[in-house]
Amino acid sequence: LLPQFTDSFARRFYYLRLSITDVCNFRCTYCLPDGYRPDSRAQKSFLSRDEIRRVTRAFAASGTEKVRITGGEPSMRRDLTDIIAAINENPQIRQIAMTTNGYRLARDVVRWRNAGLSALNVSIDSLDPVQFHAITGQDKLRQVIAGIDAAFAAGFSQIKVNTVLMRDLNHNRLQQFLDWIRPRPIQLRFIELMETGEGSALFRQHHVSGAVIRDQLLASGWTAQPRQRSAGPAQVFSHTDYRGEIGLIMPYEKDFCVSCNRLRVSALGNLHLCLFGDGGVPLRDLLASDEQQLALQQRIARSLQQKSEGHFLHQGNTGITQNLSFIGG
Ligand code: GTP
Ligand code: 5AD
Ligand code: SF4
Repeated sequence: LLPQFTDSFARRFYYLRLSITDVCNFRCTYCLPDGYRPDSRAQKSFLSRDEIRRVTRAFAASGTEKVRITGGEPSMRRDLTDIIAAINENPQIRQIAMTTNGYRLARDVVRWRNAGLSALNVSIDSLDPVQFHAITGQDKLRQVIAGIDAAFAAGFSQIKVNTVLMRDLNHNRLQQFLDWIRPRPIQLRFIELMETGEGSALFRQHHVSGAVIRDQLLASGWTAQPRQRSAGPAQVFSHTDYRGEIGLIMPYEKDFCVSCNRLRVSALGNLHLCLFGDGGVPLRDLLASDEQQLALQQRIARSLQQKSEGHFLHQGNTGITQNLSFIGG
């Protein structure tokens, strides 16, 4: 065992966000408006199940307690269930979570759960089927909602739903979302639209601060919950009349990065110290055999000393992040 992953700002990293594919079958306006553009070179070389097993083992040996599988859309990989099982071989990993567009949820969630998946985040930007179709390019709102019902039936006790907040599209539909979560144990999180390299025009048109939601919640009996140590980036609000909760993810707020606890590995095996940063530290040459684990842990620990205090989104600097499909948010 090596000491835990920490950086020069005394942040500890116990949460790995692992992208397993860049491929996605949706065309969300803020992410892949023209759909996934296959790059045959990249497509062939996403991390294999064995490489995923090795990378998660190395992170687990350095204190990682939670792995989130992201994409692209993770369920575009046929071996997803085996990947979950491979990550689940690490007893130190106490939670295996996944962020998905929900397309395959109804069909596969029981298999994923049996393989060890313990938490689910599903993206739904609109509860209006026509608007959902317009934003995602897929007329699948009913299928995704059926998937959420299937996930509850499979034993997930709470499900998180991600809603990217966009001016004039959904920022004025709060009541519809509240009605939906009143009887359901859903934590619905509004994520402020973030500027990516390819998304500047959309950002200028639709970015709106999560404060508009916060003000409406506070004015109608919702209370902010105290933040827990293990809390993610969301500020959570609850209300006695509701089984569901509302979360706000506001990356443009001052101090958002102070509590950063996560590292990212792309589907090509590069370590990214920030969602918006440089090209990443290649790890793949150390994923070929089990014997390289210590060297891998050392490279990650050393790289972490370069991690900056925060992102530079306020200055319009998105780093190399052209869209979030290669790094999974
Ligand atoms: P939990 O792991 O359940 O706490 O959720 P999470 O919010 O970390 O995971 P999820 O994949 O659902 O993330 C939702 C979105 O929040 C991401 O896709 C990003 O858009 C945003 N987000 C998550 N972590 C970060 C971060 O470290 N920095 C920034 N800028 N945005 C983040
Ligand atoms: N800004 C904010 N959230 C984004 N996501 C993807 N691109 C962006 C962006 N530009 C979110 C999706 C999904 C998660 C993986 O990332 O809504 O919930
Ligand atoms: Fe961490 Fe970067 Fe996200 Fe800030 S923007 S919380 S530094 S990953």
